[in-house]
Amino acid sequence: MLVTVHRGVQILSEGGICAIPTETVYGLAASARSEAAVRAIFAAKRRPADHPLILHVADVATAREYSVWDARADALVDLWPGPLALVLPARNVLGVITGGHPTVALRVPAHPVALEILAAVGPLAAPSANGFGRVSPTRAEHVEAEFPDLPVVDGGPCSVGVESTIVALLNGPPQLLRPGGISLETLMERLGPVQVGGAIAVPGTLPSHYAPRAKVELVPYGTAGADIPAGSPEDHARALYDALRSLDARGATTIVCEMADSVGIGVAVNDRLRRAAHR
Ligand code: TXA
Ligand code: MG
Repeated sequence: MLVTVHRGVQILSEGGICAIPTETVYGLAASARSEAAVRAIFAAKRRPADHPLILHVADVATAREYSVWDARADALVDLWPGPLALVLPARNVLGVITGGHPTVALRVPAHPVALEILAAVGPLAAPSANGFGRVSPTRAEHVEAEFPDLPVVDGGPCSVGVESTIVALLNGPPQLLRPGGISLETLMERLGPVQVGGAIAVPGTLPSHYAPRAKVELVPYGTAGADIPAGSPEDHARALYDALRSLDARGATTIVCEMADSVGIGVAVNDRLRRAAHR
């Protein structure tokens, strides 16, 4: 059910849950101060309780209140607002958000509606607004189709289209836990060496996450044929989840996807495609 920004703010302030737009994908948000509201997110998504949520904040100052800030994070914060989540030791964060882990993932989203809601409500815990294991929503209609009873603030189609890059800044070298809207190249320019993958098991890294109902078959980049215009990796990312969802909705049994050029955000597209194809 679509609601106005004003109504969304009201619902979240009163301890309810509401889907909100971000530049990556739509999130299912709850006030980070309300344990009951955060629990309601897990129930709505049917998400296992030990899977931590990203804590969305309005600015760097707020991020610092909820973490043990790291000098390396200073080298990355000019990428905020943006599609980057930083995993740091947690401070003052409800255990229901961190899944009981001693760390927290923090992100300042680059969407004017999300920032307006954050300014009015305060920090928001928000996973992607899809059922556990399904494709993330990149349009308000995707959320409505999957959760007809949930309030959704429509902020238009997401400009990035795949989830944020997750980087852990803990003991040892920086770890890229999930490729996303900020490329590994960009991270390495600022941090030096970055370890790809990590020992921290997170649900976004389960092999069959991000799966449509249809079977997905992959063909290498550049082999789909001249009749399919080859877009940039950015175009591919923006279109990916909408294409998977609309083909699913039309009853496709097999979806053949051309992989992206493996540069920049194309790495994230290919990561999601491999997971969508895995079963
Ligand atoms: O782009 C995004 O990040 C979107 C929008 C809504 O912000 N959110 C999103 O949330 O993708 P979700 O819950 O679908 O994925 C969050 C990922 C999960 O893989 C989770 O395990 C990981 O972040 N995560 C959260 N807290 C963590 C922590 N403390 N340590 C390691 N990974 C963490
Ligand atoms: Mg998700």
